Amino acid sequence: MSKIFKDKNILIGISGGIAAYKSADLTSRLIKLGANIKIIMTANATKLIQPLTFQSLTGNPVYVDTFQSTERWDIEHIALAKWADIFVIAPATANVIGKAASGIADDLLTTTILATEAKTLFAPAMNTVMYQKQIVQDNINKLKNLGYAFIPPGRGRLACGDWGEGKLADVDVIIQHIESHLYSSKDMEGLRVLVTAGPTRESIDPVRYITNRSSGKMGYAIAEACIQRGAVVDLVTGPTSLQAPAGANVFPVESAMDMYQTVLKLYDKADIVFKSAAVADYRIKEMASNKIKKGQDSITLELVRNPDILMELGKRKTKQILVGFAAETEELEKHALKKLNRKNLDFILGNDVSTKESGFQSDANQGILFSKDGSTISIPLMTKKEFAHRIIDEVMKKVKFD
Ligand SMILES: Cc1cc2nc3c(=O)[nH]c(=O)nc-3n(C[C@H](O)[C@H](O)[C@H](O)COP(=O)(O)O)c2cc1C
Repeated sequence: MSKIFKDKNILIGISGGIAAYKSADLTSRLIKLGANIKIIMTANATKLIQPLTFQSLTGNPVYVDTFQSTERWDIEHIALAKWADIFVIAPATANVIGKAASGIADDLLTTTILATEAKTLFAPAMNTVMYQKQIVQDNINKLKNLGYAFIPPGRGRLACGDWGEGKLADVDVIIQHIESHLYSSKDMEGLRVLVTAGPTRESIDPVRYITNRSSGKMGYAIAEACIQRGAVVDLVTGPTSLQAPAGANVFPVESAMDMYQTVLKLYDKADIVFKSAAVADYRIKEMASNKIKKGQDSITLELVRNPDILMELGKRKTKQILVGFAAETEELEKHALKKLNRKNLDFILGNDVSTKESGFQSDANQGILFSKDGSTISIPLMTKKEFAHRIIDEVMKKVKFD
């Protein structure tokens, strides 16, 4: 597992919302990602989940009381405020948000919000009616205007039985926000990026389809990395089981034809295009309108060519930087370079999908980035997230150069 938060000090504030138990998962996940974690709880939060849980997970004392005596001679709220590289309040109750918006500092958590210079993120969680109350929204907007960041709550069934907005954002989403605030090289600010990801599905009949082994992980990692670096991202995605990166404009598609049409609509506005989807070359000539019944010993499916999206983008290229992907199982360099030239690309990432450790379903990747200027960069095995940043680093050199 990648240690993306290695040596980072993450201070987590837990207030008295029912979602406080989810902070245990957040804490555990951040620790696995290499972070040093310290926890502040409000007194009400300790009624919903035991501090001992967090003490055991972090190996650190849990801080609740501003006036509790400490082993070392530190004033706790100042020491914690200085220690933090980032301060995440998850869950943030309506009460904590209201107090922070008014500059109230009547417990350790709210005092530390005032005392810290670290980036402070609120992940609100509360009943929908509470969340939508004007006063709560005013408090959120006031804090946003003062430079505090918010991780929007999700929608769904709430603990109180209501449905609606107000669920604590998924732990994955909170982690993405932490990552993007901690590593905020915003070198893609002002750029619009179009990313395609995942497989396509070509229907045979209403219940069957032809697809491929693409998981979408590489494209999603690129989309996430571009968002972190400040780009506006349009993510055109075939069916995957992945959660879309927070902040992406997501365009779900199914077949290659759907993807073709959606990509062409978005293309003019794009500055950079990463075409990492595994698009079917062929589709069924005529989809059966009813489920094909078994009976005959053999049947023949006639396939016809799908449009070549990348080729079309190469032809229509104006300002866009086009990055293609060549997933190959043999003669990687030869096939990748041929594709680069024939399709008028700026870069092509060739990777050997026949290996176990990299390729379709894997969390890791390795490959060679070929540039149209003739340079090649070999990128060793690393997580798809790190890999995404490496490719973007190279592409951004080109953006700056032009
Ligand atoms: C079981 C239970 C669950 C609660 N869940 C929430 C919640 O999800 N969000 C919220 O804003 N308040 C929630 N409250 C109300 C807060 O606990 C209450 O406003 C409290 O004063 C918050 O204190 P704190 O912000 O200092 O932790 C809940 C209360 C109880 C008893």
